[in-house]
Amino acid sequence: MGEEAERYVVVTGANKGIGLEIVRQLAKEGITVVLTARDETRGKEALESLKSQELHNVNFHPLDVTSQESILALADWLRKTYGGIDILINNAGIILLGKDVTFETVKPVLDTNYFAVKNVTKTLLPLLRDDTPGGARVIVMASRLGQLKMLERKDYVKTLSDREHLTEDFVDSFANHYLKDVANGSQKEGGWPNWTDWVNFPFGRPVETYSVSKVAIIAYVSALHNILVAQPGSGKKINVFSCCPGYVATNLNNNKGQKTVEEGADTPVWLALHSPKEGSGKFWAERKVVDF
Ligand SMILES: NC(=O)c1ccc[n+]([C@@H]2O[C@H](COP(=O)([O-])OP(=O)(O)OC[C@H]3O[C@@H](n4cnc5c(N)ncnc54)[C@H](OP(=O)(O)O)[C@@H]3O)[C@@H](O)[C@H]2O)c1
Repeated sequence: MGEEAERYVVVTGANKGIGLEIVRQLAKEGITVVLTARDETRGKEALESLKSQELHNVNFHPLDVTSQESILALADWLRKTYGGIDILINNAGIILLGKDVTFETVKPVLDTNYFAVKNVTKTLLPLLRDDTPGGARVIVMASRLGQLKMLERKDYVKTLSDREHLTEDFVDSFANHYLKDVANGSQKEGGWPNWTDWVNFPFGRPVETYSVSKVAIIAYVSALHNILVAQPGSGKKINVFSCCPGYVATNLNNNKGQKTVEEGADTPVWLALHSPKEGSGKFWAERKVVDF
C-alpha cells in the first residue's frame, strides 16, 4: 500500500471473532477501517475495545448484510464520508442454528453466506477506487468446507471447477436448486451433502448447508473475477479473493477451533495488504492459492 494516500477498508460482521481481529490488524497498519455490525450496541462496544488499544483510525457504521436498506444506507454514508473505499472484506457469516435441516433453517444460511455477500459486493463495487495502488480489492471469507470435494453431485463439481467459465447465473441456479430440494425434503435423493457425524461432530449441528453456501461463494468470486476481467473498458482494477482462515476458535464453532483469531486473520489481512493480481478469482489459505 502506498504510504502517502489514506486508505479505507470496510469489514462486515466485525463486532467479534475473526472480523474484529481483521479490523485490529488493518488499523495497526494505519489503514482507516469501517467496523460494521448488525447490532449497534455490539458494534460500538467492539469499537471501544479497539480505542482502548490506542487504535483511533476505526469508525463504526451499522450493517445487516441481509438487508438491502441497510447496505444502501452504508453505501450512502461511505460516499459522503470518504468518497470511496479501497478494500471490502466480506466476513459476516453464520452456520445452521439448531439441528434440523429444513427450508426455514437453511434459508438464512444461504441468504447470509451467499446472497448477502453478493448484494453487499455489488452495491459497494461502484465505491471502490480507480487509483488504489495494486488495485482495489474484495475479499470473501469462505471455508475449506466449501471445497468441491465436499460436494457429492458430480455434475456440479464438473461445471463449478471450470473456473474461467463460471457465471453468476449458474452459481445462483446452484444455490436455488439446493434450496428447492431442501424445501421438497429431497436433498438426499438430490445428491446434496448429507453427512454423518464425523464432519458435523465439532460443531454439534449440521454443517452441510454451511458447506453448500461456501461452495457457492467461492464460485461467485471466480464468476465476479470473470465479469471484472471482461470489462476492461471501465478502467477499474479490482482483485477479488476468497479465502479460508483455518479452523479458528470463535462462537461459530463453540470455540472448538484450533487456531487463534490472530492466526485466522492472517490470510485475509495479507490479501488486503498485498492483493496478488495473479491470484484474483481464486481460493486462498495460508497465503497460498489452494484447490477449490
Ligand atoms: N471460525 C472458523 O473456524 C472459520 C472457518 C472457516 C471460515 N470461517 C468464516 O469466517 C467468518 C467469520 O467467522 P467467525 O469464526 O469469526 O464467526 P463469529 O465469531 O460467529 O462471527 C461472525 C460475525 O458475523 C456477524 N453476522 C452474522 N450475521 C450477520 C448479518 N446478517 N449482518 C451482519 N453481520 C452478521 C456476527 O454478528 P453477531 O455478533 O451480531 O451475530 C459476527 O460478528 C465467517 O464468514 C465464517 O464462515 C470461520
